Amino acid sequence: MKLLAIESSCDDTAAAVVEDGRKVLSNIVASQVDAHIVYGGVVPEIASRMHTEAIHGTVSEALRQAGCTMDDVDAIAVTYAPGLIGALLIGVSFAKGLALSADKPLIPVHHLRSHIAANYITTPTLQPPFLALVVSGGHSHIVHVKDYTEFEVIGRTMDDAAGECMDKAARALGLPYPGGLNLDRAAQNGDPKAYSFPRPRVDGRAFDFSFSGLKTAAVNLIHNAAQKNEPISVADFGASYIHAVVRCLTDNTLRAAETVGETRIALAGGVSANSVLRREMTDLCRRKGLELYIPELKYCGDNAAMVGAQGYYEFLNGKQADLSLNAYATMPIDEAYF
Ligand code: KG4
Ligand code: ZN
Repeated sequence: MKLLAIESSCDDTAAAVVEDGRKVLSNIVASQVDAHIVYGGVVPEIASRMHTEAIHGTVSEALRQAGCTMDDVDAIAVTYAPGLIGALLIGVSFAKGLALSADKPLIPVHHLRSHIAANYITTPTLQPPFLALVVSGGHSHIVHVKDYTEFEVIGRTMDDAAGECMDKAARALGLPYPGGLNLDRAAQNGDPKAYSFPRPRVDGRAFDFSFSGLKTAAVNLIHNAAQKNEPISVADFGASYIHAVVRCLTDNTLRAAETVGETRIALAGGVSANSVLRREMTDLCRRKGLELYIPELKYCGDNAAMVGAQGYYEFLNGKQADLSLNAYATMPIDEAYF
């Protein structure tokens, strides 16, 4: 079964053709980084406008590279939640128009579910159940993936998301957008012990995260140094900060795996591209005899191939929308409705 998948939840216009949820026939991502860089972050109105401009060409190119026409496509999968509402609406409206004109089923896909499904592409043998650490710009969840369409959130952030935390520190250090990626690069040769950061825990909630204290500590350190005219080593500061964030993520995830009795862990979301997180998780899982799954770098950030992967399993589970499908800025992963 071939799915044409569309993703427009933030600042990437993406389309892909995916066969049987695992085989990527094409994967096109039109990035908007150059447009947002001058503002230091994503400007929602600009994102919406750019999606409108790029979506037709992106979808056409995905079909062309897959060697398909709409006749060869069995269904259309689209990200409908969560994300920037104006941005989501472009993808959803385009997908609805295509579904109507080509008379194809329309499959709504939850963005975080699709981030998890990126692992099915990288590891075609992976099947639920497993535990997933889902870390993106807006979310930080530990999710028990009980089946392809059955999820239980067992840990979540009480305030900021890990990606947001990376982005804010990068910005305070003067690094350009996209912050998380540039912080990772700048910290490559830094000393992770050079600066000390608090080790936040959420009282009585062993799997939940709290990153706002860490973020504020970083911003205060940078501002205090600037006021005293003291230099900050971006590499050392970045390395220390990333290690502090990653330690929260790895500690809670391993604790959760032990508690729910899962020996398989998958990383998902934009922050799973972080080199320290990938390395630390790999080392820890090897030492503890756990199996670790990490998406290929090109499937960590937003893309439509992962939407095609999850869309396939949503379709098998009977999920289909009609033309009344709407987009939603927020939507829990475990209660996805449309
Ligand atoms: O999943 P994603 O591409 O978009 C959302 O759904 O939010 O995640 C974006 C987040 C951003 O906060 C970005 O800074 C972060 O992922 N990110 C990284 C890296 N690459 C992207 N954070 C740390 N290290 C990276 N290499
Ligand atoms: Zn995402």
